[in-house]
Amino acid sequence: MEEDQKRFIERGSHKGKGLAVFTSGGDSQGMNAAVRAVVRMAIYLGCKVFFIKEGYQGMVDGGDNIEEANWSSVSSIIHKGGTVIGSARCMDFKERAGRLKAACNLVKRGITNLVVIGGDGSLTGANLFRQEWSSLLDELLQTSQINKTEREKYKQLNIVGMVGSIDNDFCGTDMTIGTDSALHRIMDAIDAIVSTAYSHQRTFIMEVMGRHCGYLALVTALTSEADYVFIPEMPPPRDWPTKLCNKLEQERTAGQRLNIIIVSEGAIDRDGKPITAEMVKQVVVDNLKQDTRITVLGHVQRGGAPSAFDRVLGCRMGAEAVMALMEATPETEACVVSLDGNQAVRLPLMECVEKTKAVAKAMADKEWELAVQLRGR
Ligand code: F6P
Repeated sequence: MEEDQKRFIERGSHKGKGLAVFTSGGDSQGMNAAVRAVVRMAIYLGCKVFFIKEGYQGMVDGGDNIEEANWSSVSSIIHKGGTVIGSARCMDFKERAGRLKAACNLVKRGITNLVVIGGDGSLTGANLFRQEWSSLLDELLQTSQINKTEREKYKQLNIVGMVGSIDNDFCGTDMTIGTDSALHRIMDAIDAIVSTAYSHQRTFIMEVMGRHCGYLALVTALTSEADYVFIPEMPPPRDWPTKLCNKLEQERTAGQRLNIIIVSEGAIDRDGKPITAEMVKQVVVDNLKQDTRITVLGHVQRGGAPSAFDRVLGCRMGAEAVMALMEATPETEACVVSLDGNQAVRLPLMECVEKTKAVAKAMADKEWELAVQLRGR
């Protein structure tokens, strides 16, 4: 094993292989660290490396959107939020015609290794692309868009995913790239809220992001001593207004000068209907007459510099993704690089995507215990 590793990381040992990296879906802090690591590890191993700008749209449109990268293209980006190569939610790639154009653009540049950094939708798209690759190339050959030599030379497409999302909503990884930074951003905001709430003896309702996932809300609640939290995976009991008001009153009676309630953006009740910050405020005002304010943090959570954790996470996952691509054989399944107990590991991409989709299904079926269980640790 040690011998293998020594041989594998030899500089220039994968000379001339075409590899491209792109970011897709919502951006997140730490994506740049991952892009940087991919580019530098791939260059170190001898690959010809490309950025695909603006996500799948750039792959479909080609032209200047696919640009060769060098060592210095990724200098001074590790500390930046967002993604310097752009991201988009792309409709064209959902159609075979779009994927056909994308395949042609890759073949013309000799790219047969792809690193996709995005959420479960982006990773599912990548897997489908890989499954179709052979038939796409056949069609390109039949329509004379590529020649026989290109058809043969680029017949194997390897794909590796990394999950970039502040939501921490992907099954199989302990943390997605961006979650830790988002939590830092939320903590700063909530500490500020707490000081003003204390002065005026107010109740604050804070809405945090997480469309279908309560991780940010849950961790925020734990680390800010919140009095109540609403998350999508575990809706509150039907009599939550009474329970909430009792809890708030109890805290005030015990001498607390403020109350904090965290509402996940995707919070729902037991019938699957949204519980909004505005609804919670109404309950508090109507029943307790407390001076109550709402703060919706919004995209502030996704912006700004990445934390040290996300920078390191991006670096480690990026390097591992390149190694996984270089080791891939025609039999190797597309994988996702995940964090498991502080180790970067490779897991079958579609297995993780399926598990993640099963959580959404359990929520849609109102099987709350199952949803929580499927989220995993
Ligand atoms: O998935 C990440 C996320 O930030 C969610 O928490 C949020 O619901 C969504 O993206 C917002 O998407 P958009 O930036 O397209 O409004």
